[in-house]
Amino acid sequence: ASNITKIACIGAGYVGGPTMAVIAKQCPHIKVTVVDINAQRIADWNQIDLDRLPVYEPGLPEVVAEARGRNLFFSTDVEGAIREAQMIFISVNTPTKTYGVGKGMAADLKYVELCARQIAEIATDDKIVVEKSTLPVRTAQAIRTILDAAATNGKDTQLATSRPKFAVLSNPEFLAEGTAINDLLYADRMLIGSEDNEDGKRAEQALADVYANWVPRERIVTTRIWSSELSKLTANAFLAQRISSINAISALCERTGADVDEVAHAIGMDSRIGPKFLKSSVGFGGSCFQKDILNLVYLCRHFNLPEVADYWEQVVKLNDYQKHRFAKQIIDTLFNTVSGKKIAFLGWAFKKDTNDTRESAAIYVADELLQDRAEIHVYDPKVTAEQIYGDLEYLQKHRRNDNPCTATQFSALSAVEIRSLVTVHDSPYEALKNAHATAILTEWDEFKGYDWQQIYNNMLKPAFIFDGRNILNRKEITSIGFELKSIGKG
Ligand code: NAI
Repeated sequence: ASNITKIACIGAGYVGGPTMAVIAKQCPHIKVTVVDINAQRIADWNQIDLDRLPVYEPGLPEVVAEARGRNLFFSTDVEGAIREAQMIFISVNTPTKTYGVGKGMAADLKYVELCARQIAEIATDDKIVVEKSTLPVRTAQAIRTILDAAATNGKDTQLATSRPKFAVLSNPEFLAEGTAINDLLYADRMLIGSEDNEDGKRAEQALADVYANWVPRERIVTTRIWSSELSKLTANAFLAQRISSINAISALCERTGADVDEVAHAIGMDSRIGPKFLKSSVGFGGSCFQKDILNLVYLCRHFNLPEVADYWEQVVKLNDYQKHRFAKQIIDTLFNTVSGKKIAFLGWAFKKDTNDTRESAAIYVADELLQDRAEIHVYDPKVTAEQIYGDLEYLQKHRRNDNPCTATQFSALSAVEIRSLVTVHDSPYEALKNAHATAILTEWDEFKGYDWQQIYNNMLKPAFIFDGRNILNRKEITSIGFELKSIGKG
């Protein structure tokens, strides 16, 4: 049985929130405190109205309702939580660096480093520090160095034996947004990497015991710490590679008259390939795939493996190409200009069943259409207008200019221009009224059930639909009279 009774988690985001909620649900004997420096986020996690939690995930409100206030707490008292806990998860963001060395490629570890320093400063007894964030391989070494330095620093007057001892574990998270609760409850595996010594093994056992409250033992995989760190980057690289591979084939399908869904189905029946993650689309988004691959590419270059770096970088380039292809097809089809034309966007989130928009394909497609002065009308069931404007404003400042397929010189739009060209609607039918074209950017289930006849009646003719997720029924849609453009259908 586990001797852990108090857990803290630094970072109450898309990973920290759901992960800790599930640990608390499954381990009523463990007090779990999730802390964040973002006071608004913590206030939102403490909302009485469970529909307004900061993270939208199916099943999450029920889990929070069960555990919150019992053994699950959300707080801004980072120091207090660190002091109290025996085990501390670091679940802060690790975005791509936007400045200095490794700009646009390397992971920015400043938030992780701050956590390590804060733990080192505050801890007065032994702690197990768990890397939950996705990190470059060998980050545990950096964390260990910081913890050890601070553990001795300025505490020389104490007896050596009274200095806190730290164990560092790597425990990457494999949940997917939109299915996070299910992924956590019925995980394919939980991965724990530990340092190769007695303290490391003991810490590994303690964390394995926590998960064993609901995860079958054979699904708790233990490895050396570097393997664990690298496994997360590798998993995301392989997953994204599958999407870029099928998207590459989608372009060829469009030229040749093949159908990418038929190809995917046929190859997916090969048990060596498997049917999952072969859905062609406007391109992958989300906060992880691109960031983690760029990080992997950066590492390979750092370790002087340029061929390996180039190989993985192509996955991101192909994804940029796919987003660009979609935007270009809209402009080409609408007689080579979208200036002043109303383009309705169904969906802004990077995938269905989440309110997360980070790196969403919708942002990039919108950006390209806005260069041509399109009027974009957005409807997404879970994303707020402020989020949408914020995403577009952010991109104006952080556009990656190394992308050869969008070599056109983009000019940055001001916040005022963005707000005058982009309208966000609460009703899909309003967004679609009098539109020249509809672009489906997210595969929300509700889009399939709309009254497409009514939508057709209210759109300008010819009424174009660009189905970036291949969710609409071609026969039904074209028999209404729409011009339907799908991905990978020649
Ligand atoms: P997020 O941005 O949603 O949440 C991170 C939170 O950490 C923010 O609320 C931020 O305010 C807080 N934070 C930053 N520095 C802090 C500090 N010093 N003290 C207290 N709080 C601090 O990020 P998300 O999506 O939860 O990702 C976290 C990590 O998990 C990243 O490394 C990511 O790569 C990884 N990951 C993300 C997955 C996802 O689906 N979003 C899946 C698997 C891993």
